[in-house]
Amino acid sequence: MSGIIIKGQNKLNGEVNISGMKNSAVAIILSCIAIPGVFTIRNVPQIDDVKTAKEILLCFGATIYDMDEETIRIDSTNVKNATISKSLMQKMRASYYVAGASLTRFGEFSIHLPGGCNIGKRPIDQHLKAFKAMGAEVCDGNIISAKSNDLDECCFTFDFKTVGGTINAILASLRLKKTILKNVAQEPYIGDLIDFLNCCGANITGFGTDELVIKGIENINNCSYTIMPDYIEAGTYIAATAIAGGNVKINNVVPSHLEKIVESFSKIGIEVLKDSNSLRVISNGEYRGTNIETAPYPGFPTDMQPIMAALLSAADGESTIKEKVFENRFGFIGSLNKMGADITQDGDKLYITGVEKLSGASIEAVDLRAGAALIVAALGANGITTITNEGHIMRGYPLIVNKLKQIGANIDYIN
Ligand code: UD1
Repeated sequence: MSGIIIKGQNKLNGEVNISGMKNSAVAIILSCIAIPGVFTIRNVPQIDDVKTAKEILLCFGATIYDMDEETIRIDSTNVKNATISKSLMQKMRASYYVAGASLTRFGEFSIHLPGGCNIGKRPIDQHLKAFKAMGAEVCDGNIISAKSNDLDECCFTFDFKTVGGTINAILASLRLKKTILKNVAQEPYIGDLIDFLNCCGANITGFGTDELVIKGIENINNCSYTIMPDYIEAGTYIAATAIAGGNVKINNVVPSHLEKIVESFSKIGIEVLKDSNSLRVISNGEYRGTNIETAPYPGFPTDMQPIMAALLSAADGESTIKEKVFENRFGFIGSLNKMGADITQDGDKLYITGVEKLSGASIEAVDLRAGAALIVAALGANGITTITNEGHIMRGYPLIVNKLKQIGANIDYIN
C-alpha cells in the first residue's frame, strides 16, 4: 500500500520556495495548440497535471523539450487535430482547454468530457454557450464536438463567473477579429494566461475588470514566458505553519494574490508578514475560530476551503465555512472527524467546533485540496497519520514531501 506517513507536531522552521501556478501552467501549455510557434515556458511546476498536459500536447503532434526541471520548450508549429482518449482526458479538469484551442487552430474539435476532482456536478454549459456565440455548431453528447462557422465579431455574457469557461472562451476567440466577453472570472492565473497569449502576439485587454476585449492573434511571436507563483500552494504552507507552529519564510509569491487568504489568517490570530515577493508566518500553534465564505476571486478561494477546514478543526472556539462555488466540496469531513475533529455539515455550510488537538489516523485523500487538508491536519496532530490515495495530492503540489521535510516536518512516502 503506497501513501504518505506523517508524525505530527514537529515545529516548522526555515524557508520554502513556491512553484509555478498549477492552473496557469496547464492552461498555458494547452493554449499552445491554438498558436503555431516555439514557446519557452519557465517556472513550470513538477506536478502530475503538467505531465498530463504535456501528454495531451504530444498527442496533437507538438514537440516538447525539457530544458531543465522547470523549463520546457514547446514547438507547436506542426500540430494536427486529434481526439484525445477518454482515459487521458479524464486525468484532469483542464484537459477541456483543447476544445477552445482547437476551435481557433482547426475550426473544430471533438472531446470526451474532462475529469478532475469530484467536487460537484461541474457542467460545461457556459463553455458551449460561448462557443455557440462565436458561431460554432455544437453537438453535445458523450463526445462533444463543434465546427466553427466564419464569424468576425462576437459579444458574449457568461451567466455567472466560471474560470474554465472564461479560459476556453478566450482560447476559442483568438480566431475572431474581435470578441467581447462579459462577466468573466478574474482569477490571477487567467491574467497569467492572457499575459502569455499577449506575449505571443494576441491583443487581449480588460483583465481585472468584468469585461475582456480580444482582438485575435495576428503576428505570432516565439515568446519566452515565466509562470506566476502558485498562491494556493503558498496558502497551504501558511496553514501548515499555523497548525504545527514555527517560523517559516515563504519565497516567490505575489502578495497581492494572497490578500484575502492573508486577511483570513490574520482574523484567526496568525500573523503573516509581507515583503515584496515573500511572506513570513510565525505561529505558536494557537489561533481562534472564524467564519469563512468562498467566492470567485477576489473572494476567499474555494481551493483553500478544505485546508482552512482542517486548520479550524484545531482552533480555539467555533467556526463556520460556507462553500458557495462548488456544491460538493466537503469530501474530507469523514477523515478529519476520524482524526478527532468535530465537524457537521448542513447543506453548503460546515459547523466546526475546535478541539484541543487532532489525533493521527489512517485516512484517504478523496481529491487534490482535500488531500492537502489532511496533510495540514496531520502536521498538527498527536501521533502518526497515514494518507492513502496520495496521487490526488501529486496532481497539484510539487515536491510536497521534500518541501515539508526541508522545513522540519516528519513526513515521508510509504511504499
Ligand atoms: C477552476 C480551477 C479550480 C478552482 C475553480 C474555482 C482549474 C484547472 N481549476 O475550476 O482549481 O477551484 O476554478 O476557482 O483552473 N459551472 C457551471 N457551468 C459551466 C462552468 C462552471 O455550472 O459551464 C459551475 C461549476 O460547476 C462550479 C462553478 O460554476 O460550481 C465554478 O466553476 P469554474 O469556475 O468553471 O471552475 P473550474 O474551471 O472547473
